[in-house]
Amino acid sequence: MGLIPQHFIQDLLNRIDIVDLIDSRVPLKKAGANYKACCPFHGEKTPSFNVSQTKQFYHCFGCGMNGNAISFLMEYDRLEFPDAVEELASSLGLEVPREEGHDNRPKIDNSLYDLMAKTANFYQQQLRTSNGQKAVNYLKNRGLSGEIAKQFGLGYVPDAWDSLEKLFGNFSNNPKLKQQLIDCGMLIQKEGDSSRVYDRFRDRIMFPIKDKRGRVIAFGGRVMGDGEPKYLNSPETPIFHKSNELYGLYQARQANRNLSRILIVEGYMDVVALAQFGITNAVATLGTATTASHLQQLFRTSRELVLCFDGDKAGRAAALKALEHGLPQLREGREIKLMFLPDGEDPDSMVRKVGQEQFNQLVQAAQPIFDFLLKFLSDQVDLESVSGRGQLVHLAKPYLEKITDPIYLELFSQALAQTSGLDSDKLESLLGSPQQVATTTNKSAANQSQNATNPHQKTASGRKKINKSIQLAITLLLQSPKLGLAVEQFDWLLSLEQAGPKILHRLLEIIHKNPTLSSGALLEFWRDDKLYQRLAELAITEREERIRGNEAQEIADCFKALLQEARTQRLDHLQQKSSQEGLSAAEKAEFQQLLLLSKRQNN
Ligand code: UTP
Ligand code: MN
Repeated sequence: MGLIPQHFIQDLLNRIDIVDLIDSRVPLKKAGANYKACCPFHGEKTPSFNVSQTKQFYHCFGCGMNGNAISFLMEYDRLEFPDAVEELASSLGLEVPREEGHDNRPKIDNSLYDLMAKTANFYQQQLRTSNGQKAVNYLKNRGLSGEIAKQFGLGYVPDAWDSLEKLFGNFSNNPKLKQQLIDCGMLIQKEGDSSRVYDRFRDRIMFPIKDKRGRVIAFGGRVMGDGEPKYLNSPETPIFHKSNELYGLYQARQANRNLSRILIVEGYMDVVALAQFGITNAVATLGTATTASHLQQLFRTSRELVLCFDGDKAGRAAALKALEHGLPQLREGREIKLMFLPDGEDPDSMVRKVGQEQFNQLVQAAQPIFDFLLKFLSDQVDLESVSGRGQLVHLAKPYLEKITDPIYLELFSQALAQTSGLDSDKLESLLGSPQQVATTTNKSAANQSQNATNPHQKTASGRKKINKSIQLAITLLLQSPKLGLAVEQFDWLLSLEQAGPKILHRLLEIIHKNPTLSSGALLEFWRDDKLYQRLAELAITEREERIRGNEAQEIADCFKALLQEARTQRLDHLQQKSSQEGLSAAEKAEFQQLLLLSKRQNN
């Protein structure tokens, strides 16, 4: 299927009223200009979840969740982006158009899901046959109840090379079916004679792996004895991508309306055993380390992730690996914690030993990611010595670089400063924060290009004023996109050095193309951008009462200041050029003109 065209998404957001949409799922109360409710994404007793009809945007002041109508469906109904769009479209009776030729993902044959479901049913039924008796005994021996086995759809695959052919009928009559079963990893072609096939899974306990919608997409199969491998897993297939999927996520979502916390464990058995003991929020990676994609998906469901590791060295190494993916994803309203089990235990054995309540206490006591990191790094050096404290800073550097959220970065830097005994300025210079590098190079460039007689030498306060204008203009446009229609010419923004004017330019371009856009629809253009969160924050900042109502004037002032800045920068540039290589006739004329304008402004 091709991509959904952006214009359709805009049209959809234009027609839907976010207040109706949310109200049908979370009853809203009018409060001033906005609507309010207790936040559906985190537990609370006083409402801090706000929905703005004018902005077509929601925001929770408690947990920081925010977004437009599509975001709401993605979060609340736990849908992927295209499914959320489908849902909105169908509520309006619209068909979602698709762009041709943009999507080169392989087409998924929907009947693969069907085959997997039939296979899973068959394996499950086998537990009730005499063949399956030893599997039932194995599960019983491991302490699993029939109820939990049923809930997770556990099954048994007979000790035969052709169970699937027996189930589906003779393959020689149905080559397409045979190929489909090869495609979804259930059949293996014989080496040397690819026309012959045999079952991948034989004589194993079968764990069906479900996707977020509950469709069986793969299997994990455990030997009952000591055979190798202990677990045999489905290979990558068109419907199964190991690094994206999590065992038990579907069940966890089914069991909990609100998953405020998710526990990430290593094994199939851990998930099932924990569920049996009433701990229904555990998921397992599928024999791989936790990937960024895993964390991303889990944060869509939950704000707190607790990674559970063995207490040994390998566990700690795995924890560090997970940190590398985890740190870049931290931001307001998201938390990662780590818990370590005693040596030799896994969650399955642990919960059976200590029971639900004590296990939950261990989860409660999990270490926040920064506490763990600081402790882990400190343990490697001698904090009593100067060189040890220096070493600490250097060890921390690669981790600091992975933190993208400015607030978390600040907090961790402070903690690091405290532990190392360095003040934070010193620490910053040691770490050579990118920001500082940027200002020093600017300064030296400025010194080279601007001599003392240059009347346009930028002062710190001047630069601050410009940045303020940029931020205010972006905020105003995000909050009331219509204001942008008054700005007729804006291509000159692109000549400004900073990043802000480029964002402003993009905003204006979008607004001019879609004059009826709401804030929520405008933000849609940044959905997958790293700037999204920052822009969303600007879009919801409450403006002070006394300055409201004057937005048109404010934005005009901002652009006036920016235009002046653009001219100054151009003037500087031309001045520099004239002293080095000289100016063309046109440039000379421009220079004269700019000089005139600048004199006028200064008087
Ligand atoms: P473990 O070896 O820790 O097993 O593997 P376990 O989960 O405790 O299983 P039991 O209790 O012995 O039955 C942890 C996870 O690593 C993957 C599986 O996903 C397993 O659940 N794994 C392990 C494999 O994929 N293949 C293997 O051969 C072993
Ligand atoms: Mn185990």
